[in-house]
Amino acid sequence: MRVLVVGSGAREHSIVLALSQDPEVTALACAPGNAGTATIAEQHGLDVTDPAAGAELARRWRADLVVIGPEVPLVAGMADAIRAAGIDCFGPSAAAARIEGSKSFAKDVMAAAGVRTARSEVVDNPARLDAALARFRPPYVVKDDGLAAGKGVVVSADLEVARAHASTLLEAGHPVLLEDYLDGPEASLFCLVDGETVVPLLPAQDFKRVGDGDTGPNTGGMGAYAPLPWAPPGLTQQLVEEIVAPVAAEMVRREVPFQGLLYAGLALTSSGPAVIEFNCRFGDPETQVVLALLRTPLARLLRATATGKLAGEGPLEWADGSAVTVVVAAEGYPGTPRVGDVITGADGEGVLHAGTRRREDGAVVSAGGRVLSIVGTGPDLAAARDDAYRRLAGVHLAGSHHRTDIAARAVAGEISIPTAE
Ligand code: AMP
Ligand code: GLY
Repeated sequence: MRVLVVGSGAREHSIVLALSQDPEVTALACAPGNAGTATIAEQHGLDVTDPAAGAELARRWRADLVVIGPEVPLVAGMADAIRAAGIDCFGPSAAAARIEGSKSFAKDVMAAAGVRTARSEVVDNPARLDAALARFRPPYVVKDDGLAAGKGVVVSADLEVARAHASTLLEAGHPVLLEDYLDGPEASLFCLVDGETVVPLLPAQDFKRVGDGDTGPNTGGMGAYAPLPWAPPGLTQQLVEEIVAPVAAEMVRREVPFQGLLYAGLALTSSGPAVIEFNCRFGDPETQVVLALLRTPLARLLRATATGKLAGEGPLEWADGSAVTVVVAAEGYPGTPRVGDVITGADGEGVLHAGTRRREDGAVVSAGGRVLSIVGTGPDLAAARDDAYRRLAGVHLAGSHHRTDIAARAVAGEISIPTAE
């Protein structure tokens, strides 16, 4: 099977790495890729916002399967263009990708499917903002209604901070979503979905804030771990039955069946699990830990999803133990990152590349905000965490920063689901 992966983050490096270990894969390419994917796959230039260019590359390269990593090409319709060219593609249609691309569409689907999520209101007229804010209580949750790479959300107890963020979005012409605050720990559950068949992967937890102790602005994700040692038995099954399967069925009913990876971002609140958001693709950095533990060959699984044959696949196999990833970010991230700095020590095991490129002289240099994703594994979460930070110590990038507390509270047994009063 010739497999082409679209994207250039550590998520794609992790997908390419897993595919490279599947004996069914005879050729592997990544577009546009990074300095890490270039060591295990052919690289091809690609503008990921151009669906026709994706389909043309897939045809020229004679791909049997295309796996689309990021949301931008999916929302733009690249999976539709590839399927129209007669090539199997892992990833939803543009119509189904709206589950991520439009928060109001997602809310509508959830309401129809009877799935718990925060009460919300869309504001598209600045004159209505104050009255709308008055219908919420602190902490205020203010979101950009469209795609914002995880950075469009402000959660603040301060009304002025909430109002200022909403005003900035509205002035830029972006509708704003106001939401009730959800208490409880967050979890990310990835599910392979082909129409109504839902196969969950291991649950993971992501660290969205830039600083230790969950301080500072939101980012695309600064680290993750899997599985969740604090999760009650049966949690994954409950999440599939109460949340993901009803949403998949509702998408089928609306004649926009979802095919690909449906990512449920959840808050495990005192009154039960509730959806924070859906994404239409693998999450970054959670993929790096989930795929580090997956033992079932990945290409076969993704092709079965792409061709509607998921129901015929056996149960997934997982390694025992845990995985932790820590993201190394460039100076300035999540603002404008400094790029072009030389990275050393980034060729070892467990070092996945994101914003990197190889310079003409052979040096690997930074080329984006999130630069590397260092993955550690071990028999338990504490060992996996130690492994990740030990590997990170061998990597150097001037001016870079990373969180030092990824998975620390889970290792210390400090995470629990709040109980109802
Ligand atoms: P989103 O882009 O919707 O995933 O939001 C990014 C982050 O903001 C989430 O991972 C949460 O940490 C936080 N967040 C978003 N919505 C809520 C909410 N309703 N209640 C509490 N925290 C939220
Ligand atoms: N880890 C968050 C995301 O992929 O959206």
